[in-house]
Amino acid sequence: MTTSEPTHPGTTAVTDPDRVIIFDTTLRDGEQSPGASMNLPEKLEVARTLEALGVDVIEAGFPIASPDDFAAVKAVAEQSARARICGLARALPGDIARAGEAVRPAGARARIHVFLATSAIHRQFKLNKAKDEIVRQARDSVALARTLVEDVEFSPEDASRTEPEFLAEVVQAVIEAGARTVNIPDTVGYAYPDDYAQLITYLKNKVPNIGRAVISVHCHNDLGLAVSNSLSAVRAGARQVECTINGIGERAGNCSLEEVVMAMRVRKDMFAGITTGIQSTHLYGASRLVQSITGLTVQRNKAIVGDNAFAHESGIHQHGMLKNAECYEIMTPQSVGVPDTNMVLGKHSGRAALANRLGKLGISVGEEDLGKVFDAFKHLADRKKEIYDGDLIALVEEVVRGAVRSLWSLDYLHCSSSSGHSAGSGAMATATVRLVRDGASQTDAATGDGPVDAAISALNRITGMEGTVEDYRLRSITKGGDALGEVSIRVRLKHAADAGTGTVVGGKGLSTDIVHASALAYLDAVNRVGGQVGKLDYRTAAT
Ligand code: KIV
Ligand code: ZN
Repeated sequence: MTTSEPTHPGTTAVTDPDRVIIFDTTLRDGEQSPGASMNLPEKLEVARTLEALGVDVIEAGFPIASPDDFAAVKAVAEQSARARICGLARALPGDIARAGEAVRPAGARARIHVFLATSAIHRQFKLNKAKDEIVRQARDSVALARTLVEDVEFSPEDASRTEPEFLAEVVQAVIEAGARTVNIPDTVGYAYPDDYAQLITYLKNKVPNIGRAVISVHCHNDLGLAVSNSLSAVRAGARQVECTINGIGERAGNCSLEEVVMAMRVRKDMFAGITTGIQSTHLYGASRLVQSITGLTVQRNKAIVGDNAFAHESGIHQHGMLKNAECYEIMTPQSVGVPDTNMVLGKHSGRAALANRLGKLGISVGEEDLGKVFDAFKHLADRKKEIYDGDLIALVEEVVRGAVRSLWSLDYLHCSSSSGHSAGSGAMATATVRLVRDGASQTDAATGDGPVDAAISALNRITGMEGTVEDYRLRSITKGGDALGEVSIRVRLKHAADAGTGTVVGGKGLSTDIVHASALAYLDAVNRVGGQVGKLDYRTAAT
């Protein structure tokens, strides 16, 4: 138990000392994954899904980073109905004021998250500041943030590599100044579960006012230990876990929300009495949504939400499963919302049935988008006899992205490949594309090494872009030859006339035709390239 007080003024309205607060940072740390940037409607959709999932705190962004980040945090705060909305700020007055303004629409649910590095290496090389200056700056910043909101969180960045005594001094000072959550980040993913738990225990014993704050943990996955470290910390008394959907985030990512939540739920013997507010049946839908929006596809064998997580291949396993599923399953696919592989909707299903099914998947779309999803659903139902949950999730994404990526839209695509080549020899192909921008259409054609390459070349000719495809993935959304194919790509893009190496962006396209899906994915990346420019990077910006 973190505290002897049942409630903490200014923290979530969690009164149970064994309730672990789930702080989701998909929209902030998660968005820092290369190529994972999201635009405003996408962020709003993720935020809606996170609220439906039951997260307690949504870290919606870093408002000082760019006008777009500010607008996104503000819009998430305006849209929110239940979760606390948090904005990140360096320990600087300008950052704190900007974060305070962005989260203000959330009213009493607004949180400012102030951070300042404390480890020796950061003090010496990044900040060039002595210990006492760090303590003063941390304390003053928290006090300033408290003039704007009740709920202030403080993070001593690189806490796990900070001298424990100095860490305790900083933690005590910020709690005195009004921080109601103290986060102990393992910024570089260096911690080891036993040591990290010991650090939490040390702070509980050493910091006299620790009972006035919730201890939080924020683990990166550089050694693949983010979930283990977070779980160890909870066992030692941490009561907030910072995590992201699918574990996306800086470098190797952050602690994965679905894994940490299900580990605490399934291993009740290790986490007696511990609860979270997460609706686990929404986990799969949330995972798919984030994969789809960011283009960061999880590996098939990813725990909880990977395609193989509940697949049983070997005869021995299948036999055991048929006798009793618990032989080989420690949780049911239904408990995490893995979709039913039976047909769920068909041509004659109505709008209400669609809305109902999306609700069951934990996906909430606005009224206007629902209309568009329904139209897309009807269109797909004309081409595809059986519509599965996976198709629905993909359609929602397509609609939300389509509404946003309005700069260029693909109006026509025709490809022809020359035949007579032996397999794998790279058949020459020709593609003709017509794009529409601001109501005007442009047509061009190009040749290439296969139809995808030709289509990309034609797209480049019209848009004036140059791109190198760094990653290309094709997956079938559901089964059957008529299944929707989803192409996710990461492209390094720049205007042909610009110098420099360009920007890495992700794109996604969905179609029953894979060349069409590829062209849509590439165009999606082209359309999103603007949002990447001129953003402040919190790690390199001076504090
Ligand atoms: O990893 C980290 O230290 C962070 C802080 C800003 C909390 O993301
Ligand atoms: Zn982080």
